[in-house]
Amino acid sequence: MQQPYNPKNENIQVFVKDKLYPRNEAKVSVFDSSVQGGDAVWEGLRVYDGNIFHLEKHLDRLLASAKTLAFADIPAKAFIKDAIKQTLKANGMHTDTHIRLTLTRGEKVTSGMDPRLNQKGSCLIVLAEFKPPVFDNSKGIKLVTTHTRRNSPMHLDSKIHHNNLLNNILAKIEANHYGADAGLMLDNLGFVSETNDCNIFMVKKGVLLTPHADACLTGITRETTIELAHELSIPCVERNISVSEFYNADEVFITGTMGELTLVYEIDGRIIENKTGSAIRETLYAAFKKLTATMGEPID
Ligand SMILES: Cc1ncc(COP(=O)(O)O)c(C=O)c1O
Repeated sequence: MQQPYNPKNENIQVFVKDKLYPRNEAKVSVFDSSVQGGDAVWEGLRVYDGNIFHLEKHLDRLLASAKTLAFADIPAKAFIKDAIKQTLKANGMHTDTHIRLTLTRGEKVTSGMDPRLNQKGSCLIVLAEFKPPVFDNSKGIKLVTTHTRRNSPMHLDSKIHHNNLLNNILAKIEANHYGADAGLMLDNLGFVSETNDCNIFMVKKGVLLTPHADACLTGITRETTIELAHELSIPCVERNISVSEFYNADEVFITGTMGELTLVYEIDGRIIENKTGSAIRETLYAAFKKLTATMGEPID
């Protein structure tokens, strides 16, 4: 279950374009390209014990997405880092914090699709909130396979982390309708891709498997999980995986900044039965928590 509104976030300061505003005054123009066409890129980051986890990787992905979308005016990394740190300091946030970082193409001189109408520079938004990981990891979550597919590179390249999230939102609506925690999304060939907001892994007979990053987002937590598996000598394979293989896996878990490595206990009414008694998710999660406790860019 996603977390509800947290009253601690009532009086937060939000960075918009070039300065901080109180939550209720933090706004973008009705001419902003994010309002007009979802024309923006974004990142979700977490802060653990005074450190921003994988800041460089998130900024690299943000800037790469902005370059792909041919933003005319991409802020320097140093400016974005400074805006993030300013926001965290202004809010007294040191841990259990989630940052929604958005870069829009900015304000248009008149409504319209053409990026040449954006003549006022891009707009950076740093929205930091007190928010622990979103899923209850003791119990895990259940998934339902959705009709809504992930975009394939034929349609919209999943390597762009953009704000056109409607297919993910449609998948989440389906999941809500069926009382599941998240929607399991397939690619255009019918193989499992990811959930509406996280990457997905399964374990079968001691082997860790995850779909190719063709239709799914190339998640930073996904990458970290694969790196940890290599370090821990856990065999890890990226390949096409069917839903049936997921139903019959020994372990299934999802990965993402919002929820870390979260256990999946049921997909489409099929309980995930661990026939080998493996504990690969637990091992990887313990290694991941060691990283979050020791790594990251200090706020101060
Ligand atoms: C669709 C989707 N998949 C996966 C992820 C997880 O990515 P990361 O591990 O970089 O947070 C996200 C996070 O934004 C996402 O939106």
